[in-house]
Amino acid sequence: MKNPFVFGEAVSGSAFWNRTAEIKELTQDLRGGQNVIVFSARRYGKTSLIKTVLQKLAEENLITIYMDLYPATSKESFVRLYAKTIAESLGKPSTKIFSAVRRWLPRFLPKLVVDSTGKVELTFDLNNLRNFKDYFHELLESVHKRATAEKRNAVVVFDEFQEVTSYGDDEIEREMRSSFQHHHNVSYVFLGSKKHLFQGIFNDANRPFYRSGKHFPLGRLPDQEIIKFVTDRFQRGGLSLQPDVAQLIARESRGHPYYTQLLCHILWSNRSHHSEIVKKDLHLAVETMLKRETPGYQAIMDGLTLRMRQLAIALSQEETSTPYGENFLSKYNLGTASTVQRALVSLIQKDVIDHMEGHYQFQDPFFAQWLQRFVY
Ligand SMILES: Nc1ncnc2c1ncn2[C@@H]1O[C@H](COP(=O)(O)OP(=O)(O)OP(=O)(O)O)[C@@H](O)[C@H]1O
Ligand SMILES: [Mg+2]
Repeated sequence: MKNPFVFGEAVSGSAFWNRTAEIKELTQDLRGGQNVIVFSARRYGKTSLIKTVLQKLAEENLITIYMDLYPATSKESFVRLYAKTIAESLGKPSTKIFSAVRRWLPRFLPKLVVDSTGKVELTFDLNNLRNFKDYFHELLESVHKRATAEKRNAVVVFDEFQEVTSYGDDEIEREMRSSFQHHHNVSYVFLGSKKHLFQGIFNDANRPFYRSGKHFPLGRLPDQEIIKFVTDRFQRGGLSLQPDVAQLIARESRGHPYYTQLLCHILWSNRSHHSEIVKKDLHLAVETMLKRETPGYQAIMDGLTLRMRQLAIALSQEETSTPYGENFLSKYNLGTASTVQRALVSLIQKDVIDHMEGHYQFQDPFFAQWLQRFVY
């Protein structure tokens, strides 16, 4: 039997667990034309959730469009990618698509190209893009026009939306906001994982997108749900869990869906001829996982200053609400309170540390353990 635990890319089908309440709320919001801002730290399942919701809404005949901004590194590439995404929502790349594209994006000239694997792709040649604003305006209006003409509602998702902050100025944000606010038949969804950048877009009164949608923070999976799904998936493969092991998995991974899947994937791969998974197996799986994740953690550490690294190591030893307090400073030999303040702000801006439940904690539930085991 294939390993039922999947990690990495967005998941769907039986690899996608629960999120029933979130699906219900988002589906209702998006059906009703509400704009939504979905935030979570990395790998909490934003993309998986929104794709599940989009599929449901597509079945209800809404126009659904999903764009990942990660590859769009400039305003021009944003325009090219959004045009391509909209065009592809009209149908498979083929010569038939030209008339549909001409209808909704008359200024854009599509080309069909065949890539090295033989796949047909649609591209737009925008090298002579002289009047950026006109092109952009047409692009931003096109989904609304199409939805109006077809008497349908539409949902457009911008994943990794914080990437717009790297374009040098806020032209894209301004134009989007001024167009979108008139589109009552289109819901726009903004997904992001870099807290500092993403929340800056929506919570800063001087920015175009200030208060422009409903905030929808995506949290951890509830322990009970993890226990239910994990037990079920192991059972289907003929494996039982020693009492408390499912609970320990939920506790270890702190409800983080990616780590839950990764941990269980390792447990499944390491299963021996025994039919029961015991606590010792879980300890070994955590150890394997920390080793596997080492390159990622190492890269984060390499991007920190010495002061930040020292503070991160101290916080891995002890979660605290006052890392600049006298006791903490002297116990971990951290220098002055103002140095620690600065290092703390930088660790928060880099999404390493977050202020949650009154404490400064690591965003990644296993980073602290990795620091404890592998860094001295
Ligand atoms: N509802 C879920 N049920 C089970 N596993 C999930 C669920 N959501 C996410 N995961 C796990 O987390 C991994 C990452 O999911 P996904 O890519 O959707 O998260 P994300 O928040 O979009 O991540 P990123 O911040 O990297 O964009 C998946 O590969 C899967 O292992
Ligand atoms: Mg994602």
